[in-house]
Amino acid sequence: MNALEKLKKYNQDHIIDLLQNFTEEEKEKLFEQVNRIDFNQIESLYNQLNAKEKETPDEIEEIVAINKDKLINNEIQRYNTIGENIIKDNQYALVTMSGGQGTRLGLDKPKGLFKIDIKPKPKYLFEILADKLKEKNNQYNVTIPWYIMTSEENDSDIKEFFESNNYFNYPKSYVQFFKQSNLPLITEDKKLVIGKNKLIKEAANGNGGIFSSMYSNNILDDMKERKIRWIFISSIDNILLNIADPMLIGLAEDRKVEIATKSIIKSSPEEKVGAICKKDNKIKVIEYSEMSEEMKNAHNEEGELKFGESHIMCNLFSLNALEILAKKELPYHIAYKKSDYMDANGNIIHPDAPNVYKFETFIFDGWSYFNDIVVLRGKREEDFAPIKNKEGQDSPQTAIALYNNFYDKEIKKL
Ligand code: UTP
Repeated sequence: MNALEKLKKYNQDHIIDLLQNFTEEEKEKLFEQVNRIDFNQIESLYNQLNAKEKETPDEIEEIVAINKDKLINNEIQRYNTIGENIIKDNQYALVTMSGGQGTRLGLDKPKGLFKIDIKPKPKYLFEILADKLKEKNNQYNVTIPWYIMTSEENDSDIKEFFESNNYFNYPKSYVQFFKQSNLPLITEDKKLVIGKNKLIKEAANGNGGIFSSMYSNNILDDMKERKIRWIFISSIDNILLNIADPMLIGLAEDRKVEIATKSIIKSSPEEKVGAICKKDNKIKVIEYSEMSEEMKNAHNEEGELKFGESHIMCNLFSLNALEILAKKELPYHIAYKKSDYMDANGNIIHPDAPNVYKFETFIFDGWSYFNDIVVLRGKREEDFAPIKNKEGQDSPQTAIALYNNFYDKEIKKL
């Protein structure tokens, strides 16, 4: 079936009508895209739109995280030593997910290129990670491989940024970029939309896209060649991220699990983070937007939030787990977003309200394929200073305050 037939078959005639204003070259590019897009997948995504219900607390159980403050010194020491040995043996790698669009922060560039005014000097978000890696490398006398996930939208900007900043003096052969896949945006009446560049609008397929894209970009093979055993996958926007916590690594190794995650306690029922809990005997995360009010506000007998253990995108995977997950399907989560589009007259419209569905998979849904996962409770003031919003909660201001506090207490004195 050629591209025009495909558009017709799947009721995308509005795109065919627009073609009269396209040059031959523009048409060709669009047809290439149409040939690549899996229209059956679009049908199936669309059919899921109304299928999802909010989670209620009934069949969901609270989890008990490992709390460092409650462990005895000997135990802490033992886990730390196991973890440190793994790092020293060059069996540890960092993956940074930076394929997101950062819509809430509203930058005109990838989030990692955002410069933030922290102590002792302003740094780009990628630079913060590079510096933390260099510190760990010095501490353990290794070079930790660093893999960076980009998206179609930001890949070239990120690569150019690294080139023009000389990789922040990180050894170039230890940095690898890989691109995640895209999915088309779909309107309420199952139409694809055309953007300013005269192509169908697509967006990155969510941070859960990491598993298949690591596999298809041969990142897993590279890790195998380098004899990496443990891989820490985290986000670009947490400036207090501990990029190599020996305790987390040691715990995972000691407890013989394939996945370990670090959590922190929710600051309030309304904090917009996913809750780590248990359902059908499996540890899972329920996104903030998918939690009912009842669930957000449920308390346990000690008077703490029952579902207060929060997922902060600090996930450690064994290489084996990543190989398993590369071949697995993850469920799609749906967001209703604003997206510019070309109207029937060829004009670009900037809608005031959401007009398209975006489909994403989430990294933590990969947990469902494993029976046990270690959850280590970290501390907000040491582990979590995210930059999500322009202002207010989780903004550059709040992240700077947390970072500078940590700097004054922990880093300056080193
Ligand atoms: P968020 O879900 O917070 O998204 O990403 P975001 O792109 O930073 O911001 P909003 O929601 O558009 O405002 C958490 C982490 O997952 C990465 C992000 O780059 C960030 O490091 N991510 C997200 C991806 O790598 N790919 C995606 O498709 C989505």
